[in-house]
Amino acid sequence: MGPLHELDERVEDERDDRGDKEHEQDPARCRGQGIEREDRQGEQDELDPARDDDGGDARGHRARLLGGGRGSCGASLVMLRSMEDALPSVTLLFCGDVVGAAGRRALLGSLDSLRADHAPDFLVVNGENAAGGLGITPKIARELFTAGVDVITLGNHTYRHQEVWAYLDEEERILRPANFLRSQPGHGTCVVERGGVRLGVVNLQGNLFLDSGRTAFSEADAALHELSNRADHVLVDMHAEATSEKVGLGWHLDGRVTAVVGTHTHVPTADARILPGGTAYITDVGMTGARGGVIGVKREQAVRQMLTRMPVRFETSEEDPWVQAVVIRTPRGKRRRAESIAAVHLPAGRP
Ligand SMILES: [Fe+2]
Ligand SMILES: [Fe+2]
Repeated sequence: MGPLHELDERVEDERDDRGDKEHEQDPARCRGQGIEREDRQGEQDELDPARDDDGGDARGHRARLLGGGRGSCGASLVMLRSMEDALPSVTLLFCGDVVGAAGRRALLGSLDSLRADHAPDFLVVNGENAAGGLGITPKIARELFTAGVDVITLGNHTYRHQEVWAYLDEEERILRPANFLRSQPGHGTCVVERGGVRLGVVNLQGNLFLDSGRTAFSEADAALHELSNRADHVLVDMHAEATSEKVGLGWHLDGRVTAVVGTHTHVPTADARILPGGTAYITDVGMTGARGGVIGVKREQAVRQMLTRMPVRFETSEEDPWVQAVVIRTPRGKRRRAESIAAVHLPAGRP
């Protein structure tokens, strides 16, 4: 969430959004040591090269998770690499920050329509505001996966709910920004596969006005090195406040990834385009949530705070929900290139 993020503590809890306690875990949980994290990840790579646990989709098949978070490459991947010439065109659907119950209803209620209109092969959503406007819970993440979401990206509200901390380590397909500290729970890249096409997803967070432990640009390079032989396409979610950082990252990665999409401000920009090197780019996709509020917050509460400069308890808006997304199509036979990117602004109404 954007400029109102400093007011997190006053946001309404929306217990029905967050009610999942089944994954409540050790309150003292602290990864603490980056080395320990890397070791655990290595174990998981060995034991679980192609995990395919929960989640299906309405198209009757599901994206398969490939490898672990870091550095693995199995025999099946080598085989797939030899098929590069036959790499089919794919369609990626990326939805901007899902905000609260209204955003979840808008997304889930629009999936049939989105599938009918765009036939996405992969569905990636930013879920950093999915639980009551702040953060996400394991229960909500599972609901999104079950509905057919392939990968969930996050941002500055990643750790709002403690019950999600362990889940971020357990579930490969939910990403927190890769340039957080290595000691923080979770991971920032994953690879999913459908129909022989491997999609790598990278989540990054800007360094201007946001608390990111490490620099986004160098971590982007590290993530691409990690994915070098593991992904036919790469989608990067750059969660950032400053437009300059997102534009800069687009240029930095042009020709090296399929798409760089911006999130966090909740307001879509009108600059979707294919950069000269073939990378699809947009500064901000917008949000999947109630457009009748102020970036997802009830507008009377947000305006009162701005007017009075006094604390105001915030609730997520329910008024005028929309899905704001982009559809990216890739050319047949070309790795990490896009041929089109189009914004989707879909009024969702109330189910
Ligand atoms: Fe957000
Ligand atoms: Fe954010």
